Amino acid sequence: MRIHILTLFPNMLSGPFSESIIKRAVDRGLVEIALYNIRDYTSDRHHVVDDYPYGGGQGMVLKPEPIFAAVESINGKSEVPVILLTPQGRLFNQMVAEELARYGEMILICGHYEGVDERVREHLVTDEVSIGDYVLSGGELAAMVIVDAVVRQLPGALGAEEAVGQDSHSSGLLEYPQYTRPRVFQGWEVPYVLLSGNHAEVDRWRREQSIIRTLRRRPDLLEKADLSREERILLERMKRGEE
Ligand code: 6GU
Repeated sequence: MRIHILTLFPNMLSGPFSESIIKRAVDRGLVEIALYNIRDYTSDRHHVVDDYPYGGGQGMVLKPEPIFAAVESINGKSEVPVILLTPQGRLFNQMVAEELARYGEMILICGHYEGVDERVREHLVTDEVSIGDYVLSGGELAAMVIVDAVVRQLPGALGAEEAVGQDSHSSGLLEYPQYTRPRVFQGWEVPYVLLSGNHAEVDRWRREQSIIRTLRRRPDLLEKADLSREERILLERMKRGEE
């Protein structure tokens, strides 16, 4: 996969992409991440990237020309998705991460200031994504979030110990509680079932803990979660306070 990122602050992104799972995926050749400074695509002497809004008002607006020039320099063919990162976009979640992970290539544009000239939205961008209902100063942190969530989906990005399918959210449920050594820490013991060596019992306990945890913390997730008939019945009993 090839990810192109247009930003006014490429230095914000280079550090996080040189660590941990993303670095390993880059080193393994699973993903190539290219950073482009929008300012490098200006054609005036002062390298101006923003200007006052027509009609007046607060703040500055990103000019269209350098953004079009940067995208056109990358995008010979127009099939590559061009995604604007903006709080006005569709909400990013695990399903969107899985959808983006199926693209061979994509262009992310980090918005900034008060906004981006509307003609970028109308005539260049093919999708708009937000990472949550709060305002960030720019799209860079959103780009990091999206790249991380997408890259860890790529086959081979995770080690044997880090299976994608086990993550919170991949099954629509939150993850079960995890423990490691020591067996007793400051008097607090690890649940006995985990030490029993009975794998079927361990699986059953974990599944039940995932459902309980999701019910308590994120009941909104349960409607769409992947539950068996027995688990739906157990869930109804838990909701009535019988368990
Ligand atoms: Cl993608 N950009 C900005 N600036 N703020 C956000 C966001 C994106 N998603 C949530 N808040």
